[in-house]
Amino acid sequence: MNAYAENVFGEYDTRVRGIMISASELDVRHGPILYLEDVSVSFDGFKALNDLSLYIDAGELRCLIGPNGAGKTTLMDVITGKTRPDTGSVFFGQTIDLLKMDEPSIAQAGICRKFQKPSVFDALTVFENLELALKTDRRTWSTLFHRLNGEQRDRIEQIIETIGLGTCHQLRAGALSHGQKQWLEIGMLLMQEPKVMLVDEPIAGMTHQEIERTAELLLSLQGHHSIVVVEHDMEFVRSIASKVTVLHEGSVLTEGTMDEVQNDPRVIQVYLGG
Ligand SMILES: Nc1ncnc2c1ncn2[C@@H]1O[C@H](COP(=O)(O)OP(=O)(O)OP(=O)(O)O)[C@@H](O)[C@H]1O
Ligand SMILES: [Mg+2]
Repeated sequence: MNAYAENVFGEYDTRVRGIMISASELDVRHGPILYLEDVSVSFDGFKALNDLSLYIDAGELRCLIGPNGAGKTTLMDVITGKTRPDTGSVFFGQTIDLLKMDEPSIAQAGICRKFQKPSVFDALTVFENLELALKTDRRTWSTLFHRLNGEQRDRIEQIIETIGLGTCHQLRAGALSHGQKQWLEIGMLLMQEPKVMLVDEPIAGMTHQEIERTAELLLSLQGHHSIVVVEHDMEFVRSIASKVTVLHEGSVLTEGTMDEVQNDPRVIQVYLGG
């Protein structure tokens, strides 16, 4: 039996270490879309994550801040299956245990990650990069040699508009600015209709104008996807955040609005390195 057969609900099944789960099992009726409880990760005795608990709601845009080494990237590694925690639980919806799944299955189930360095194909156009993202998405059946159908073309065009590259869809990706390449990569992730997107330091190296556009893009995606953004630039975080989680020494120090966390004496202490 094919692992990615469409089920009776018109959704796609994913193989989870030999067990079949279907997207219809993603149950967020009674709680968050993603939750981690009491998660610890040690590297040679050093606790990069220390009894960390975090809850992300469906459709929310959450910002994750914290000093260098706080464990932000390690947290993303745990969610995506790259790093296994020593203890704790990590659930997608109420019923999908991510600790029982490997990295490709987690991605397939709808949790995707944008790394800092864009990995677009410079020799291909914007449109072709998105086409490739569609064709390497195993849920879609099409092979690299299949012609796109009208619906798929429309979807690519729609995503090109979303990422603000409407005027350059026939331009080679190599000719794009650094910021435009980052948006294209976000577009390539969007082709796979992720439920959760993890974005680590999206604005590094961007111009002021590109930073503003990136804020608009992420804000436009909330509600449709749950997005977790790790970023050091506080002005940027303020421009997109409704809820901010502060990590420190592998645990959640505090959560709240940007004003709440910035006025929290513990947060001030941590950032001043006191
Ligand atoms: N593979 C690893 N082996 C050993 N130590 C690691 C490993 N990965 C991370 N660490 C350590 O775990 C701690 C947390 O690292 P992490 O990269 O998660 O921090 P971060 O919050 O993302 O920091 P930054 O803001 O600098 O990106 C750091 O002290 C780091 O040196
Ligand atoms: Mg990091």
